Amino acid sequence: MGRGRILWQNKVVLITGTATGLGRSLSIKLASQGYRLSLVDFNEEAGQETLSLVQQQGAEAIFIKANVANEEEVQNYVNKTVEQFGTIDYFVNNAGLMVPMRLVHEYDSSEFDRVVSVNLKGVFLGLKYVIPVMLENGGGNIVNTASSNSYKPTAFNGLYSATKHGVAALTKSIGQDYQDLGIRAVGVAPNTMLTAIGSKAVTTLDQNRLAKLQASTGPNIPATPEDVADTVIFALTTGANMLNGTIVNCAGGEIFN
Ligand SMILES: NC(=O)c1ccc[n+]([C@@H]2O[C@H](COP(=O)([O-])OP(=O)(O)OC[C@H]3O[C@@H](n4cnc5c(N)ncnc54)[C@H](O)[C@@H]3O)[C@@H](O)[C@H]2O)c1
Repeated sequence: MGRGRILWQNKVVLITGTATGLGRSLSIKLASQGYRLSLVDFNEEAGQETLSLVQQQGAEAIFIKANVANEEEVQNYVNKTVEQFGTIDYFVNNAGLMVPMRLVHEYDSSEFDRVVSVNLKGVFLGLKYVIPVMLENGGGNIVNTASSNSYKPTAFNGLYSATKHGVAALTKSIGQDYQDLGIRAVGVAPNTMLTAIGSKAVTTLDQNRLAKLQASTGPNIPATPEDVADTVIFALTTGANMLNGTIVNCAGGEIFN
């Protein structure tokens, strides 16, 4: 523990999707605050880079390569975290992707399978294997990365939005079902966040569709991943104990639920 760090911050945080974007920013911020970190991603090269950045902050951390859509790999990332740290205090179910943006009938069923397997099944599998560890160890706090698409689809984003509505529903179910079991969950919902996730997804849109997309996002303020990471940290920690089953709107304005 570095000088000035508070002992209760030495908690174990398991985060998925840590190679880039929000997951990386969150990992670095938590590392600078003295948390112990288990970092998961299927992108090994960038995942190892995040691990180095986190270790440069003096944090105790491991990286586990895993595809969150694969049940055995999810079991493995949970088991390895418990082997290393003995427990999981906080879980950030963050890995996600976008598929190219289209009208609903234009999607291939393979695109449906891809986005559902990562954004929804991946979140479910994380919950399925992390929650028993938390129950055994007296509780824990969960953040699921939701989206403004958990409230209202942006244009040409029907499949992604369906998965993020599902993530919101899982979050609300935990809020309802685990109240007396010491586990609470919050959905953190960015609107436009300045990461690479959407760069390929928009290449299917012509000027007309791009204009419709922009109109559908509303006059939000684009967030940096660092901005959203601050909200995730607040939602995870004790200051937010009264948030449970809540979806926190991080659109910087508009998109009211
Ligand atoms: N950027 C936005 O505008 C925005 C808005 C709302 C919600 N979100 C959500 O924020 C979360 C983080 O996304 P981001 O914007 O930081 O994008 P990102 O692409 O930078 O990060 C996503 C991370 O998830 C990892 N990942 C993807 N599929 C995976 C899999 N099958 N197994 C393991 N890891 C996998 C990627 O390698 C990457 O590190 C996602 O859940 C996304 O849906 C993003």
